[in-house]
Amino acid sequence: MNAEPSFPTLRMRRLRYNAGVRSLTRRTRLHPGSLILPLFVRVGENIRQEIGSMPGQYQLSIDQLIEEAKEARDLGLGGVILFGIPDEKDHQGSDALHAGGIVQQAVAAVKNAVPNLLVLTDLCMCEYTDHGHCGILHDQAGLTDVSNDPTLEYLGKQAVTHAEQGADVIAPSGMMDGMVQAIRSALDGAGFAHIPIMSYAAKYASSYYGPFRDAAESAPSFGDRRTYQMDPTAQAEQALREVELDVQEGADMLMVKPALAYLDIITRVAQTYPGIPLAAYNVSGEYSMVKAAAANGWIDEARVVDETMTAIHRAGAGIILTYWAKDVARRVCS
Ligand code: PBG
Ligand code: ZN
Repeated sequence: MNAEPSFPTLRMRRLRYNAGVRSLTRRTRLHPGSLILPLFVRVGENIRQEIGSMPGQYQLSIDQLIEEAKEARDLGLGGVILFGIPDEKDHQGSDALHAGGIVQQAVAAVKNAVPNLLVLTDLCMCEYTDHGHCGILHDQAGLTDVSNDPTLEYLGKQAVTHAEQGADVIAPSGMMDGMVQAIRSALDGAGFAHIPIMSYAAKYASSYYGPFRDAAESAPSFGDRRTYQMDPTAQAEQALREVELDVQEGADMLMVKPALAYLDIITRVAQTYPGIPLAAYNVSGEYSMVKAAAANGWIDEARVVDETMTAIHRAGAGIILTYWAKDVARRVCS
């Protein structure tokens, strides 16, 4: 740094005095192949039901899901991640465990219709349980809470049913201790040793998930998720311990979630594990806030979105899960 000249020899504005110089010196470029589009699938036919709190996002029946999947492929997206909304929810989340379940059918249909599109599945219990929690409940010390170890067995079975229908990547989002290990050994035991796990490794108990819970109809019927999702007020190093646990258990890819309020965590995980692909989830609340402001004419949606994507990449996430994946890809390709 000492060798740097100073003003007036040094003029930083020379590096941006015209569009050509700015383009030449650009380091962060958006690319469709780095983006994953989340999609919500429900039972039925010809359903394309807009989600009230997420304008431009839909609950889709499988026929409509396939149309989205084709678009995702044509735009060159990195993949789609599927969330299932079953017709019947029960205490045990039974719909999640068999080939006839909504997400299993959706995976099979997408892989059949659009074989070259990468399909990830979100793996959790909250979309399937009538109580909306991410695991099996038990009573402990007068409190009802998610019981960690019985949930692991369930997640392992669920993962195998996804892989059997052709899921390319399994993405567990429940923040159970040991979930990656349990899923890895279930997959390996069923002949799916080649299927990677993208772990929601540092997932915070965030208020930014509000609109998603409308979309997936998965709000907890009582309490909250603070005994399993991370505490935003804890020291940042706790995220590194969470990530380390998943790395030791065999996670192939990592995720930090949400993105914007946790850019510091993204950077620290990226710097600590530079050899492991890192994703960030630009979540529903981050989407809806921008949509609402744009609808009021208060901000320029396209420019805000591109700036946001740039920030998440620059922080260190090479992969972004975002509801804007198609919009960004269209802009990049046009
Ligand atoms: C399920 C899950 C959630 C999200 C992704 N997977 C909701 C939650 O944990 O309550 C949130 C995604 C979003 O807000 O866009 N565990
Ligand atoms: Zn969940």
